[in-house]
Amino acid sequence: MKKINVGILFGGRSTEHEVSLQSAKNIIDAIDKEKYNITLIGIDKTGHWYLNDSSRFLLNSNDPKYIALHTTDKDVVIVPGEERQKLLCISDRSISGTIDVVFPVLHGPYGEDGTVQGLLKLANIPFVGAGVLGSAVGMDKDVTKRLLRDAGIPIAKFLVCHKWDRDNFNFYEISRQLGLPLFVKPANAGSSVGVSKVKNEQQFIKAVQEAFEFDTKVLIEEFVEGREVECAVLGNENPIASSVGEIIAQQEFYSYEAKYIDENGAILEIPAKLPDDIVKMIQELAVKTFKVLCCEGMARVDFFLTKDNKAIVNEINTIPGFTKISMYPKLWEISGITYGELIDKLIQLALDRHAREQHLKTSYDKTL
Ligand SMILES: Nc1ncnc2c1ncn2[C@@H]1O[C@H](COP(=O)(O)OP(=O)(O)O)[C@@H](O)[C@H]1O
Ligand SMILES: [Mg+2]
Repeated sequence: MKKINVGILFGGRSTEHEVSLQSAKNIIDAIDKEKYNITLIGIDKTGHWYLNDSSRFLLNSNDPKYIALHTTDKDVVIVPGEERQKLLCISDRSISGTIDVVFPVLHGPYGEDGTVQGLLKLANIPFVGAGVLGSAVGMDKDVTKRLLRDAGIPIAKFLVCHKWDRDNFNFYEISRQLGLPLFVKPANAGSSVGVSKVKNEQQFIKAVQEAFEFDTKVLIEEFVEGREVECAVLGNENPIASSVGEIIAQQEFYSYEAKYIDENGAILEIPAKLPDDIVKMIQELAVKTFKVLCCEGMARVDFFLTKDNKAIVNEINTIPGFTKISMYPKLWEISGITYGELIDKLIQLALDRHAREQHLKTSYDKTL
C-alpha cells in the first residue's frame, strides 16, 4: 500500500504555542509510521515555518514549563497553486517534498481560527479538522454563542466589550445585569489564557485589562455553577459523539496552571459519573453544537452541567488538545477508538472532504 504523506504543523503564533508542542509530540509518537510518511513543520512564535526532523524537533520535551520548538536552518513555505502540492524551502528554493494531507496541531489564533485552514485551502491540500468557517466561528466565543443562541442551545448570559468601547463598561451596571462573580475572557484565546473570575470592581478592571492584552474583543459572562463536562465529536456529514468526561478543577477554576503546569490542578474523570439519560442528552447537544457551528472532522464540546442537570454549552474547540492528559483522545479511547485509529479516521475524513469538494464546479458554463 502506498504511504500517505502527512504534514504535521505545530507550535504557532499563539499563547498556546507550548500546548501545541505537547499535542504534536503525542500525535507524532502515536501515528503509524508504516502507513504514513511524516513531514514535521514547526512554526515559531513569530510565524516562521521550519522543516523539522522527528529525532529532534523539541527542546525540553518533557517539561511543559520549558518545552520549546527546535528551529532549523530549513525555513519552508507551502506554495498555493494547482499543479502539485509542495513545500518549498525558502533559503535554497528547493522543493522539500510532497504533502498529501496536513494535520494542523495548532491551538488558538493563527492555527485554530481559519487562517491556516485558508492557506491550506488555497494550496488545495486536504487538512484535518474544521474548514475555514467552522474554525473561525469556533474560535470566537462571541460568534459561537450568538449562533448557539439562535439555534436554541443553552449558553451563559454574556456581554461583549470592544476595545474602542471599553470606557462605557461599568462594573456596577454589568454586575446588576449578570450577577457576581463574573467571568472575563478574551473572545479569541484558549487554554484559559487571559480568563479571570472576578468578584469586585478592582478585580474586574484588572481582568478586563488583562483580557484586552490578548484580543480586541472581550466577553463578560455570568458565572455558571456546575460540573464541567466534555464530549468529543468526530465526523463530517454524520458526526458521532464519544462518551462524556468530567474535569474536576482543584483550583478556583480550570486555569492554564491547572491544565498544563500543576499535575494536581485537575482530576479527569473518564467517563464522568452520570446517568445514561444525561450522557445521551449531552451527546446529542454536542453533535447539534458541532453542526450549528459548521464544524467538520473533529471538535470537543465543553459544557457546564448544573445541579438540576441542565447542560449549558461553554465552548467548542475545533483543534482540541492532544497532550498526554488531554480529554479528546482519551474520550475516544474509552469509546473504543484507539489513539492510532483516531489519527487514521481524522486523516480519512480530511481526504474525504477534499475529494468531495473537488467535484464542485469552479466555472460556470453559460450555454447550459
Ligand atoms: N461563565 C463561566 N462560569 C463558570 N466558570 C467559567 C465560566 N467561563 C469560564 N469558566 C471557567 O474558566 C475555564 C476557562 O474558560 P473557557 O471559556 O473554557 O476558556 P478557554 O477557551 O480558555 O478554555 C473553564 O474551563 C471554567 O473552569
Ligand atoms: Mg475551555
